[in-house]
Amino acid sequence: MIFDLAGRVAVVTGAGQGVGAGIARMLAAQGAAVAVNDLLAERAQATVDAITAKGAKAIVSAFDVTDYNAVTAAIADVERQLGPVDILVNNAGNGGAERMRPAQFRDTDPAEWRGAIDVNLYGVMNCCRAVINGMCERQHGRIVTISSGAGSVGLNIGVSAYGGGKGGGQGFMRHLAVENARQGVTANSVALGLMRFEGERTVTAGLERTIPVGRLGEPDDVGAICVYLASDEAAWVTGQTIHVNGGNVTS
Ligand SMILES: NC(=O)c1ccc[n+]([C@@H]2O[C@H](COP(=O)([O-])OP(=O)(O)OC[C@H]3O[C@@H](n4cnc5c(N)ncnc54)[C@H](O)[C@@H]3O)[C@@H](O)[C@H]2O)c1
Repeated sequence: MIFDLAGRVAVVTGAGQGVGAGIARMLAAQGAAVAVNDLLAERAQATVDAITAKGAKAIVSAFDVTDYNAVTAAIADVERQLGPVDILVNNAGNGGAERMRPAQFRDTDPAEWRGAIDVNLYGVMNCCRAVINGMCERQHGRIVTISSGAGSVGLNIGVSAYGGGKGGGQGFMRHLAVENARQGVTANSVALGLMRFEGERTVTAGLERTIPVGRLGEPDDVGAICVYLASDEAAWVTGQTIHVNGGNVTS
């Protein structure tokens, strides 16, 4: 089987719902044992239940990616329970215009920027720092950071701080990739376009028309590229930002 992740241990952050839950489910379906992180333990538990119901292995790992000490303690706990972490998917993030108060930069204040940078950049750095040395020692690692088109291009929809955090994450991945390429560790970003929202989040209604493929993204669309990037077969793909957005050309 290609893209076989049997025997691998994965951590997926922010995987209690949405895109992250889809990524966790697909990594587990390929055989990885998955530590499902979320701020909210009950959300993470729901994803774990969905995975274990299909006979795959998953555990809850609730922590805040912006808290470095909590991250390092949680990763140590995951490694005690599942073994060394082979795959890290940095998915936790606060959304763009749809989730924050969309506002032009000139109308925002530092507290608003800090929230966006904390989770979308520091959160990524915290989790990478917690796993990178072990990956280098074992000469194998796969790091994927879920980014956004807003990190690659300028948009006039009031998401400048979010774009700064996501763009920072992309730059960080490129450096991590080069620093650790000879140690068998890859680091890539997956920049998403508009995803279909669950529940009350209807702000994207009608936006399908702006997407060449004609539909919003689904969690499984993102899970599939993460499975590939996490696989042995993707050893020569590193330092890249891969746009997964239904055909909108962003670079
Ligand atoms: N939804 C979109 O249209 C879209 C577009 C581009 C990029 N993205 C990116 O995709 C990723 C997932 O998006 P989504 O729409 O599924 O988000 P979501 O808000 O539906 O889910 C994110 C999950 O992350 C958790 N989380 C938030 N902050 C956290 C923290 N500090 N520590 C741990 N967990 C935390 C939340 O509790 C939540 O369960 C994010 O990085 C987002 O920026 C989403």
